[in-house]
Amino acid sequence: MNQYQAAVEEALASYELLQPAAVEPMTRVEAEPPAEGVVPQPLRSAMRYSLLLPGKRLRPVLLLAAYHLLKDDWREALPFACALEMIHTYSLIHDDLPAMDDDKLRRGQPTNHLVYGENMAILAGDGLLNLAYETMLSAPLCEKEPAHALRAAREIACRAGVRGMIAGQTLDVKLEGSEPNRENVRYIHLHKTADLLTAPVVAGLMLAGATEEQLEAGRQYGRGIGLAFQIVDDLLDIQGDVHKLGKETGMDEQRGKLTWPAVCGVEQSRKDALEAVSQAVHAMQLFGTKGDFLAELAQKSLVRSN
Ligand code: IPE
Ligand code: IPE
Ligand code: MG
Ligand code: MG
Ligand code: MG
Repeated sequence: MNQYQAAVEEALASYELLQPAAVEPMTRVEAEPPAEGVVPQPLRSAMRYSLLLPGKRLRPVLLLAAYHLLKDDWREALPFACALEMIHTYSLIHDDLPAMDDDKLRRGQPTNHLVYGENMAILAGDGLLNLAYETMLSAPLCEKEPAHALRAAREIACRAGVRGMIAGQTLDVKLEGSEPNRENVRYIHLHKTADLLTAPVVAGLMLAGATEEQLEAGRQYGRGIGLAFQIVDDLLDIQGDVHKLGKETGMDEQRGKLTWPAVCGVEQSRKDALEAVSQAVHAMQLFGTKGDFLAELAQKSLVRSN
């Protein structure tokens, strides 16, 4: 675990609003209504469950590492990093719902709706999305550098939103069972995944007051690692080991998903992922040796098993 992952794990686990009470029912509403200011059960448990399962924390790590390219005190950006993980976790909870990909396993455990029911899974996703913005807008950086913080929050909102991740998810579900088509799969990958990997890099740089040239390098990097990351995700669905992956395999073919290997084949997919990572690595050259961590992170995303 790198220093950024460790800090994120600690910060996520200690969020006041999501703390478990000493004794409380997991899946039914308490006899008394919750006190004002308290997240009711079982919503609180449902949000905490998915958020704290062992994810790779790639998006918050990207945000902290991008901020660290320009600023020493990277811990200042932790609320924004945690917000990204909340948005990502919400997207996973909703992605797994029966009406979406209908998956049973996530991060090595039963999916949220199997534990808490579909209604709570939908609300836990909604809850994490809103908590993300609450967390960002309450961050000390909003007082210290309001213009930078506002710009970063807007970047995250746009890339997670209806022309970004949600746009990609729309085509992903609506084009199930359609003819393999290169332009469509590229659109899906760039938006459902690359946008949510570009957001932390660009937002991290914005928080640190980056120049336009530096932001453009961040966009190139995010696009490269994002595209490669989803191509590898598609390959792992074909060739991965369910125990290491923590999610079921073979689901994309079963659902007729428009994936990169379905369009280009497995061999070409590997080449395309490698090419996308080379572009990400190239973009980091602007930052000299400070860019090494992010360059290596992109390279590692090619050889991952989960
Ligand atoms: C899964 O993301 C969804 C995709 C965009 C492929 P991750 O592979 O980052 O999942 P976690 O956060 O480690 O569980
Ligand atoms: C999910 O893509 C992307 C988002 C959640 C935005 P996938 O549907 O391929 O992700 P997995 O394979 O279920 O993790
Ligand atoms: Mg999906
Ligand atoms: Mg899925
Ligand atoms: Mg997948």
